[in-house]
Amino acid sequence: GHAQIGVTGLAVMGRNLARNFARNGFTVAVHNRTAARTRALVDEFGDEGSFVPAESAREFVAALERPRRLVIMVKAGEPTDAVIQEFAPLLEEGDVIIDGGNAHVADTRRRERELRERGIHFVGVGISGGEEGALHGPSIMPGGSAESYKSLGPLLERIAAKAPDGTPCVTHVGPDGAGHFVKMVHNGIEYADMQLIAEAYHLLRAVAGYSPARIADTFRTWNEGRLDSYLIEITAEVLAHADPVTGRPFVDVVADRAEQKGTGRWTVQIALDLGVPVSGIAEAVFARSLSGHAELREASRSLPGPVPQPLDEEAAARFAERVEQALYASKIVSYTQGFHQIQAGSEHHEWGVDPGAVASIWRAGCIIRAAFLDRIRTAYETRPELPSLLSDKRFAEEIGAAQDDWREVVATAARQGVPTPGFSAALAYYDALRADRLPAALTQGQRDFFGAHTYRRTDREGSFHTLWGGDRSEVSAG
Ligand code: 6PG
Repeated sequence: GHAQIGVTGLAVMGRNLARNFARNGFTVAVHNRTAARTRALVDEFGDEGSFVPAESAREFVAALERPRRLVIMVKAGEPTDAVIQEFAPLLEEGDVIIDGGNAHVADTRRRERELRERGIHFVGVGISGGEEGALHGPSIMPGGSAESYKSLGPLLERIAAKAPDGTPCVTHVGPDGAGHFVKMVHNGIEYADMQLIAEAYHLLRAVAGYSPARIADTFRTWNEGRLDSYLIEITAEVLAHADPVTGRPFVDVVADRAEQKGTGRWTVQIALDLGVPVSGIAEAVFARSLSGHAELREASRSLPGPVPQPLDEEAAARFAERVEQALYASKIVSYTQGFHQIQAGSEHHEWGVDPGAVASIWRAGCIIRAAFLDRIRTAYETRPELPSLLSDKRFAEEIGAAQDDWREVVATAARQGVPTPGFSAALAYYDALRADRLPAALTQGQRDFFGAHTYRRTDREGSFHTLWGGDRSEVSAG
């Protein structure tokens, strides 16, 4: 065979990825379970580059040069396992299977281990950027062996998005599941970013009294500053859109029940296991679940609350500026939490993930791409052992400068009855990290009282227990 890469699974993501490879000068073998899709791809886009259509798995494998590089673009879960089982027996030692779906990291680790025993490299790759990204340049997060990256890296670098300084948005994130793990956290951060933007919109609408079109303009202005990002940009587009059927703002005719496919939930589940406080991401996932409970919301509609009192024009403009501060500060917190999770996951699995490199490859191509990420990259580059993004001097200064307005926004939201779980959780995280003493000491006292769970002291080494049911003297517990 002479195709440098193959793509099987030609739904829109797979098809666009195959076209991206072909447009970049690679010969691409293409395969799909139903051959009609393969033919449609070649009929429609065959002139974009060099495609080798394959009807059967055998034909597909035969079309690939060795070591074979074969990208699977099917649904995560069982469909991925089914395709691996179909192809693995046809492959030889040194061949590389690439899974470009949003797989769960545990699945990726299992598949990598099983295939490694057969001498096959399995590379779980996070690909972000949606359909457009897949075609014009996604952000690519490959895991798998360092050896597989030698053969795969040069191809991925060609098709990846390029950061403003020209760097391709791809790096070998780390072994086995590191790539899918980092992609999962990317999506968790994506959920948090979206929730924070939604809260900003809600406040501008309910408290500032702005129309969706006006909020679109506000976001466009913000997008020229430090919040410059893809998600703010598309938010303005969505808010400015009028429903062609009714002429009403599009955002007013869409059912307010947010859906999710699972990557945000996984981020939180895994964060719980790692003991990493990703409260902003968790609130974003919960906000989506809450919105979906139509019956619960219906049953609660008559509960009392304040009626939002829209502000006058001048106060509204001042409030909008404060919301920008709250949004930016909360965004710093979400990224702090997300990068904490990446570092914790990396330590737990001994992946050696470089957080600065992750920030670097998120600068373009992916859904959370933003000017902000270049600053995160710089923060880690300046200090690779940075304990937390909040300990970076520049971020610490900015969040410090935003905190008054941030508090004002959260207080106003509480007073006016607008839910802001993202802003509030982020502020609580900030204040908890700043606190000299936390009430966790009391929690320890309670645990010791009801369960003799012991506690540590501030003034002496060791574990202690108070004889709560007896004379309340303290005993050493080792
Ligand atoms: C990306 C996106 C992509 C997908 C989201 C949507 O990075 O390109 O994150 O992976 O569109 O996972 O997720 P939900 O359907 O869960 O919102």
